[in-house]
Amino acid sequence: MLIAGNWKMFKGSAETRAFAAAFSAPEGVEAVVCPPFVSLAAAVESGLTVFAQNVHWEDEGAYTGEVSAPMLRELGVAGALVGHSERRQYFGESDETVARRAAHALAAGLRVIACVGELEEERELGRTEDVLTRQISVLQPHPALVVAYEPVWAIGTGRTATPEQAQEAHAFVKSLLDVPVLYGGSVKPENAEELLSQPDVDGALVGGASLDPDSFGSICRIAARIRS
Ligand code: 13P
Repeated sequence: MLIAGNWKMFKGSAETRAFAAAFSAPEGVEAVVCPPFVSLAAAVESGLTVFAQNVHWEDEGAYTGEVSAPMLRELGVAGALVGHSERRQYFGESDETVARRAAHALAAGLRVIACVGELEEERELGRTEDVLTRQISVLQPHPALVVAYEPVWAIGTGRTATPEQAQEAHAFVKSLLDVPVLYGGSVKPENAEELLSQPDVDGALVGGASLDPDSFGSICRIAARIRS
């Protein structure tokens, strides 16, 4: 079971070191943190397993504000998120750029968590499976690829998908692409057990609750208990 903490635009180097000093992952779970780029080195040096929050599709070039897979590997970063809904909503990320980022990172030896998920109005219109099909269709299977299903209406809202909604979406994603699927969207110690107990939920991508070493540690311990 993989439990990944997406720190978004939180925690500089000092806070990253403080988190690492207070956090320990239980046996039986792979705990990963995704700090901002400037805190990656501090996280790696602190002994955490580290993914970046994004990665470019070229090794180098005139791409202001971007970071490449070889640069991340040189730092000791193990993988990267791609296609997070905040990148899609606020920074013009498209299915095509997500696909390019994922393919290049995998070819460069990084692991990848590719994020997919529908908007609230898409779910209400019964279009969830169409959206997931479109988002997944650009990805190629790879042993180091994981998908995170994050319904956009559940991110940072305190509203989670029900365990049944998560299970249904995960099973659908797996029918399209045979990779592990993490659930993301307001995962907390209080709801982790029911979500992670679903047969096709292979872990979690945690936002807000991953910022605190105690709550992130609780989610990791719940995950360890479920799959042991
Ligand atoms: P929250 O857990 O804060 O809802 O964020 C989820 C998320 O976007 C993780 O990538």
